Amino acid sequence: HSAIKDCLQLKKKYDEEVTICGWVRTRRDSKKFSFIELNDGTCFASIQVIADAEIETYQNVLDASTGSSLQVTGILKESPGKGQKVEVHAQKVELLGIADSDYPLQKKRHSREFLRTIAHLRTRTNTFGAVFRVRHAASFAVNQFFNERGFVYLHTPIITASDCEGAGQMFRVSTLDALKPPLNDEKQVDYTQDFFGEETSLTVSGQLEAELFASALSKVYTFGPTFRAENSNTPRHLAEFWMIEPEMAFCDLQGNMDLAEEFIRYVITYILENCKEDMEFFNKWVEKGIIDSLQDLCKSDFERITYTEAIKALENAKKSFEYPVKWGMDIQTEHERYLTEEYLKKPVFVTDYPRDIKAFYMRVNDDEKTVAAMDLLVPRLGEIIGGSQREERLDVLKKNMEKHELDEATYSWYLDIRRYGTTPHAGFGLGFERLIMYLTGIENIRDVIPFPRTPGNAKF
Ligand code: 4AD
Ligand code: MG
Repeated sequence: HSAIKDCLQLKKKYDEEVTICGWVRTRRDSKKFSFIELNDGTCFASIQVIADAEIETYQNVLDASTGSSLQVTGILKESPGKGQKVEVHAQKVELLGIADSDYPLQKKRHSREFLRTIAHLRTRTNTFGAVFRVRHAASFAVNQFFNERGFVYLHTPIITASDCEGAGQMFRVSTLDALKPPLNDEKQVDYTQDFFGEETSLTVSGQLEAELFASALSKVYTFGPTFRAENSNTPRHLAEFWMIEPEMAFCDLQGNMDLAEEFIRYVITYILENCKEDMEFFNKWVEKGIIDSLQDLCKSDFERITYTEAIKALENAKKSFEYPVKWGMDIQTEHERYLTEEYLKKPVFVTDYPRDIKAFYMRVNDDEKTVAAMDLLVPRLGEIIGGSQREERLDVLKKNMEKHELDEATYSWYLDIRRYGTTPHAGFGLGFERLIMYLTGIENIRDVIPFPRTPGNAKF
């Protein structure tokens, strides 16, 4: 199979013999020819295959229903037709696997709601092929960005005993069957409930572990799955999502925002340069003008305002909100949209939130009422990044933990960072799926992850 060219490699081999493989998108027959649109997913474009009714394997062409897989050998030609750039004049057509006639992706436009019900097949459509190629390219850009800046990629655990965000959104981990304790085990432990007798959950964030490593390697980042038991059905929340979390020693809130801004711009630029065909598709069919708006974003600085300033702006807004605006409240989606789409019309970092609505690890400001937090809000989506400078003072951190009713023994390792050579440090978390929504214009988070996990969706 080494001689088989995928569509991506085909360019500029005109008049040469090529062998290609793929799945049939459509087939049209005339008396003397058949035209097959063949797609192998390596790039956006399908290849037009023209099969003369005279070729020996023509029956295979007639049997090739939509969705069937084919191997075609023929001569590559520049296509005169609109849409396709190249076509293959078939000499030999092999039918690798026929698709049953109930193949659900017959040629027509399907709603994304319908496609979610066949999430195991939707990757064969234009939209989802493009989404997952962009998702791949973005994850490559993420690693390249941090690698170029000397960050170490840290793999943090999925099973954990600590609750980073303290928001009660943990999925409990337990064993399926009672594991028989070894005979010489003296303790009576209920092995059905826990992780070998210890209470554990799926991680909501790798931040605490990243802080530990940043206090030795200075600059680290995580990029892995995280879990939140939010039983809410919104277009922006998943129970399982991927998060990117850089953490830097010797860094404050300003440095943290600078990195986040540079990071977002870097990934956007990479995607615009490396996923041109896919982005042109999104630009035309999903979010009109998204290419221009992403390009503009890379030209001017993001805004930076404090939470208190944001509340003032919302109070002065000439419109009414569902959630009344008041200092001390959490900023809701409708407020995020107003700030980014009407008030500032661009991405904005909101900083220095009230201490009472943020997590225990955020550094307390001199006013003692606010913390050195930063959320990045963007048009169309709202919150895409949450981060902060961390509390590096042992006594203040201990008081915060007491307030949040966190058990000191469970977090003794975390407190140790503050006992042995503590440093100012900061980091943030970017929801990878929200970034993909931002890049593609896709409006529902279920459509940018291969296997969405939401209430009622755990099968595929
Ligand atoms: O704001 P969050 O909860 O922050 C943290 O977890 C910090 N420990 C990060 C850090 O400082 N290292 O989550 C960070 C981001 C959000 O801004 C959002 O983009 C995404 O993660 N996110 C979700 N994405 C999809 N589904 C969910 N249920 C999400 N919850 C958060
Ligand atoms: Mg947040």
